[in-house]
Amino acid sequence: MHRIDNLLQKRDEALLGGGQKRIDSQHKKRKLTARERIHFLMDEGSFEEIGMLVTHRASDFGLEEEIYPGDGVVTGYGNVNGRLVYVYAQDFTVFGGSLSETHAEKICKIMDLSLKNGAPIIGLNDSGGARIQEGVVSLGGYADIFYRNTLASGVVPQISAIMGPCAGGAVYSPALTDFILMVENTSYMFVTGPNVVKTVTHEEVSAEELGGASTHSSKSGVTHFSCANEIECINNIKKLLSYMPQNCEDDPAILDYEFTDEIRTALDGIVPQNANQPYDIREVIENTIDEGSFFEVHKNFAENIVVGFARIGGRSIGIVANQPAFLAGVLDIHASTKGARFVRFCDSFNIPLLVFEDVPGFLPGTDQEWNGIINHGAKLLYAFCEATVPRITVITRKAYGGAYCVMNSKHIGADMNFAWPTAEIAVMGAKGAAEIIFKKEISSADDQYVKLVEKESQYSEMFANPYRAAERGFVDEVILPNETRIKLIKAFRMLENKSVKNPRKKHGNIPL
Ligand code: HXC
Repeated sequence: MHRIDNLLQKRDEALLGGGQKRIDSQHKKRKLTARERIHFLMDEGSFEEIGMLVTHRASDFGLEEEIYPGDGVVTGYGNVNGRLVYVYAQDFTVFGGSLSETHAEKICKIMDLSLKNGAPIIGLNDSGGARIQEGVVSLGGYADIFYRNTLASGVVPQISAIMGPCAGGAVYSPALTDFILMVENTSYMFVTGPNVVKTVTHEEVSAEELGGASTHSSKSGVTHFSCANEIECINNIKKLLSYMPQNCEDDPAILDYEFTDEIRTALDGIVPQNANQPYDIREVIENTIDEGSFFEVHKNFAENIVVGFARIGGRSIGIVANQPAFLAGVLDIHASTKGARFVRFCDSFNIPLLVFEDVPGFLPGTDQEWNGIINHGAKLLYAFCEATVPRITVITRKAYGGAYCVMNSKHIGADMNFAWPTAEIAVMGAKGAAEIIFKKEISSADDQYVKLVEKESQYSEMFANPYRAAERGFVDEVILPNETRIKLIKAFRMLENKSVKNPRKKHGNIPL
């Protein structure tokens, strides 16, 4: 055969993966193939494949007869919205996308390139796990990937999409990356599957219930995004990337922005007169940022805190906001870890932080204490304390107790702290405070209830406002809600050259 025809034939073979029958079966499961996924992800014509002709080296169990060029994973580089990314997409049509020694080597090769060249890495996972016929060399391949995931953490953004099975130790590569997206009804992640669960704990549970997208986006928080289908998943990856820089030495892109409607009167009417009434913090966010720019992360998990990316005056920011509409915005274990992880991502990649604060405190109770709210709450505190990106807080209402300190207070390094006139900054709520400090007066009063109300309002008048904190400079300025946007645009611009270095260390010891 002519040498050129020979090459073309090899390429055609590789493009077919495990063959047309298996491609059809993939489509029947409402799943795209690895190459189709890459096609939708990358800018047209930009994808360059690396290692198309790699084959496995195994010979046990008749494997020498089953050779598929590419060996179950498509790897390479290309552009997403004009910016370089590295990608690997597991090909379920070849041995169920299972990970062989050479499959792992291909992934490691592009991870090494991504680290050396400082560009994000995206993994599209669809795999039956370790290539069972290969044994320990496959396990070694996983460990090689985990090692690189960890070295790359905080250096280049790493995004994992789960578009099929992802089970056993295989789940730990995505878990080490920055963001996980799952596709509803066609993907799952678990350490042990439903059969093992049944044998060990006698629980009957389906794969979807045990480790599907809705479980992991709401109950465990393992996934940050639950996507209705693969196209939505791919579009979310592109959107996510748009807020990030290429690596930790780079800054996120600043979009052109025309300043028009900086005074936002809608913000004046959001916080209710009654301080115990809820409101949706998303309304505050939407009315402050550049229109339509909010991209919420972890939307269905720990809903008492809202986190996500946005733009203000064209700049990327990360938002962390207490949500008074859910459990009164209280901080609990899940909210603390959710917030901490997001803060750390933003700080790793030079994305300034904006905090909206309305928090009654930490959630009391045995469940929280016995499960370690002390440790978990400390994570959020630690994450804010060590963050060196520009940091601004807006206190919309309650800033009580330890939560006042934790939620990006000036004392732990926030650069600017604004408060609305509705802010209440105190050690605790007025009723609880009055019951403790006026205990004797109340118990000896003729009408204890009347006394309590009187003392409560006395405490409230003194502390349920932003002015004590403003007098001390803990709040830099008390602002009208409608001024929030313009104040933030100016302040973030003022902070754009912020340069702070924490003390030199090998690494900190965040309470895990
Ligand atoms: C080799 C595999 C494979 C694997 C699937 N295949 N998983 N080949 N190693 N791990 C092959 C099948 O033989 C089949 O080949 C093709 O892929 C498609 O598989 P099906 O079973 O027909 O598909 P489906 O019904 O969709 O089921 C998918 C599946 C199932 C749920 C993933 O294949 C499965 O349970 N596989 C085994 C999963 C597993 O136990 N893996 C090891 C986990 S331990 P043909 O030729 O018919 O197309 C692990 C440890 C990692 O991964 C540790 C890291 C530290």
